[in-house]
Amino acid sequence: MKYEVVLPAAGSGSRMGAGMNKLFLQLNGTSILVHTLRVFEADDKCTGIWLAVKDAEREQIEQLIREAGIQKVKGLPTGGAERQHSVRSCLVQMEPTDLVMVHDAARPFILQDTIDRLAEVALEKGAAIAGVRVKDTMKIVREGIIEETVDRDMLWSIQTPQAFRYDVLKEASDVADKVGFLGTDEAMLVENIGYDVHIVESSYENVKMTTKEDLLFGEAILKSREQ
Ligand code: C5P
Repeated sequence: MKYEVVLPAAGSGSRMGAGMNKLFLQLNGTSILVHTLRVFEADDKCTGIWLAVKDAEREQIEQLIREAGIQKVKGLPTGGAERQHSVRSCLVQMEPTDLVMVHDAARPFILQDTIDRLAEVALEKGAAIAGVRVKDTMKIVREGIIEETVDRDMLWSIQTPQAFRYDVLKEASDVADKVGFLGTDEAMLVENIGYDVHIVESSYENVKMTTKEDLLFGEAILKSREQ
């Protein structure tokens, strides 16, 4: 079994407030992007890495890839206005393969064990995504007033990677493109064409670097892994 990974890296990172693409920010002296690339470079099942990038950042990203000695990158197509469009820009350039994993370039702490389990389930069932159980009490709030307290046992916080058999994700993306369906993750596109998407329990360490506090958590994770 083999897979290719799509890393959408064309976001603006406005919630980070860094004044640049957050993927260039460093954790322990290495950019977030390179931390993420190294995970897939080291996984023998991964046979290709695709990065959706902004045109203005392509050169800088190519330089990071060269300096880090990342060998598996197959292409850096131009990303789109929404994450979904960025992912599609890679999908349409890719040759058919067993599996495609879509992983936020901003999630550098994904564990190999989670990738392995996702690959296994996606190969057998077609679609599998990483997630963790929510920790807090969850309520639906309308105009500042609690409408309902939701049964927490049924709620998951969804992460990436999201793993799919190539043909399943390609069909889902083609349909979404044709009818103008917009999802906040790839699983939504696959749900939209009627497939069951399976959940694989991931780790709370697989956090997306989104705001400044996430960087503090990220530094702490790296430190704990060094010990
Ligand atoms: O903004 P957010 O953190 O949710 O983005 C998740 C990932 O998707 C990031 O790695 C970001 O670079 C990428 N992205 C993209 N194209 C967009 C928006 C986000 O590739 N239009």
